[in-house]
Amino acid sequence: MNNIIVLVGSMRKNGNTALLAQSFAKGASKNNNVEIISVSDVNVNPCIGCNTCFSREGNKCFQNDDMTKIYEKLQNADIVIIASPVYFYSISASLKTIIDRLHTPMRNTFKIKKLGLLLVGAANLQNLFDPIIMQYQMVLDFFKLESIGTVLVSCVKDPGDINGNPALQEAYELGASIY
Ligand SMILES: Cc1cc2nc3c(=O)[nH]c(=O)nc-3n(C[C@H](O)[C@H](O)[C@H](O)COP(=O)(O)O)c2cc1C
Repeated sequence: MNNIIVLVGSMRKNGNTALLAQSFAKGASKNNNVEIISVSDVNVNPCIGCNTCFSREGNKCFQNDDMTKIYEKLQNADIVIIASPVYFYSISASLKTIIDRLHTPMRNTFKIKKLGLLLVGAANLQNLFDPIIMQYQMVLDFFKLESIGTVLVSCVKDPGDINGNPALQEAYELGASIY
């Protein structure tokens, strides 16, 4: 039984990323504790690069925002899933803001062993996800993490466009494969 945190990077509560993440979570909940954290429900300020977390007790950030509770949840997580819309060939800035706050050495106390990646984008481009996949691979290599898999969905633009897409079942099965 793993603790899985799904970080959803769209402000659209019923958007394509949320639907894909919910499908994954439904499958993963069969054998794991799963929690979805959406950028639409939290207020997280950007890392200002002061590096004072390096010397503060517990390597805490000086900022008192919703990241405090996200740190606590990540401290107990075994697997983290990055779920994002493609925004200008990257993950969304609001999701990147959360990830940047993991600059703190506090992350060395985390027990996260695996990552997963769920992406949606509007364009019909063969290489649409390549820049994000490259970053994902670099993070896996640097932190010596294992990938549980990826689900990449192109040609979905408006909220709900993903309904009926086989990717929802793919995400469900990816989740259900984790135990
Ligand atoms: C600011 C912004 C930038 C976007 N950039 C891209 C892009 O570079 N490539 C692409 O295929 N779609 C892009 N899109 C479209 C979204 O990825 C697409 O609408 C997606 O389905 C939104 O997911 P959501 O419903 O979870 O919000 C962009 C959308 C926004 C709002």
